[in-house]
Amino acid sequence: MRDVLVLNGPNLGRLGTREPDIYGSATFADLAEQCVTHGAERGLRVDVRQTDSEAELIRWLHDAADANVPVVLNPAAFTHYSYALRDAAAMRTAPLIEVHISNPHAREEFRHTSVISGVASGVIAGFGLDSYLLALDAIAADAAT
Ligand code: DQA
Repeated sequence: MRDVLVLNGPNLGRLGTREPDIYGSATFADLAEQCVTHGAERGLRVDVRQTDSEAELIRWLHDAADANVPVVLNPAAFTHYSYALRDAAAMRTAPLIEVHISNPHAREEFRHTSVISGVASGVIAGFGLDSYLLALDAIAADAAT
């Protein structure tokens, strides 16, 4: 089994009740369960985490880089302005796939910019929770570098 970290930024712990018209009705626990099950079926040991803290997210990226662990990252609102998170992602030593539940490009203008995408292996957005599962597929298939 290969280890994979699925890291989630601010407000994603509120899935299920947070703007369900945009993010759906599945909870964060549902997301975690889907990722763990989907990963296990593909030989991946998936650890799903969420934090509202930029510092904690950065620390997890440092740990992933030190351990050469691939990351599926939904940076949430940090996507659009956190240069600190970008710098941490740039230190990656394994694939890092940026994911979004919604399609930020189809939303408000401030969401059209990602400061993370330029240092990610790839980006998957707009497929609901399936965005995460598609990212796990890419990691399992070694399609991401
Ligand atoms: C999001 C999109 C971001 O713009 C937003 O701030 C989020 C969630 C998504 O998954 O669609 O918190 O990353």
